[in-house]
Amino acid sequence: MKIDFNKFIIALAPMAGVTDFAFRKICADFGADMVVSEMISVKALEHNSKASEKMLREESKSIRAVQLFGHDKDSLINVISSNLLKNFDIIDFNCGCPAPKIVKNNDGSAMMRDIEKTKEIISALVRFSNKPVSVKFRLGIDGVENYIEFGKMCEQAGVSFITLHARTREQGYSGSVDKNAYKKLVESVKIPVFWSGDIKTKEDVEYAKSIGCAGVMIGRNAIGNPEIFSTLKEINPPYTKKDVAKTHLEMLKTYFKTERTLVAYFKKHLMWYVKSTKNVTLLKQQILQFSTLQQLESIIEKMD
Ligand SMILES: Cc1cc2nc3c(=O)[nH]c(=O)nc-3n(C[C@H](O)[C@H](O)[C@H](O)COP(=O)(O)O)c2cc1C
Repeated sequence: MKIDFNKFIIALAPMAGVTDFAFRKICADFGADMVVSEMISVKALEHNSKASEKMLREESKSIRAVQLFGHDKDSLINVISSNLLKNFDIIDFNCGCPAPKIVKNNDGSAMMRDIEKTKEIISALVRFSNKPVSVKFRLGIDGVENYIEFGKMCEQAGVSFITLHARTREQGYSGSVDKNAYKKLVESVKIPVFWSGDIKTKEDVEYAKSIGCAGVMIGRNAIGNPEIFSTLKEINPPYTKKDVAKTHLEMLKTYFKTERTLVAYFKKHLMWYVKSTKNVTLLKQQILQFSTLQQLESIIEKMD
């Protein structure tokens, strides 16, 4: 798919444990121009992990990106040369995850440590992929802020666009993003730059636009709140919050093998969905206690 970067893109950011295929579809229904999957391990895909392959399900009507992580070039080549990613339009590569278990394995934000080595991996990804490749990264790691150099490397490697989450690995998700960093990055590369971090309002989007960003990715403010896309796009929401919860649960019934795993997973989404309901305190208490699908469905019926 050819992406039109003349049109500003409002995307759903990748979020492990949140942006499952159903949530992505719902966000696209609410107007997200692009949705990004949870990060998926290249090694796991290479070894035919059924749990990871399942994450490749995609039904969104928007631009569809799959996010991969891993540092083994051959594994990456194997995966992108296979038919596994056929449902997606873009391959996004994770160079920003701060989680200790990922960084310890030299993946995620650890990819910012050795730019030359990472360039080899990203160049291979671009060369062997028949889809556009994008890269998402942070300000830096280990006290070194090398995001400009890293962005330039991505450009040289042939990446189609880059996304900056302007916090360091050490900052995790705390504090606020370094707003100046986005402008500096936009001015340093010719490829499109996406802003990820703390986007909530129309003013935030307008600011990102004004400094030359090609798009924004929305993460935490979309959790339990796909309406953020219809609000920002100034379109009517296609369905109510109650129907969001119903649709999400209904779609996940075909995703999880057992009721127990479905209920355990969906409880957190339901906690987020009921936030804006009048009787939220009672509903939250009930969700915590409940353990069956029928009980969760009874909660959805009580939503206003
Ligand atoms: C629960 C959670 C899971 C995340 N998982 C990923 C991920 O899998 N890949 C990734 O690149 N970023 C991940 N992120 C980071 C977000 O994509 C985003 O860059 C960050 O949260 C800042 O944007 P926000 O303020 O809009 O949330 C995650 C963030 C959260 C809160």
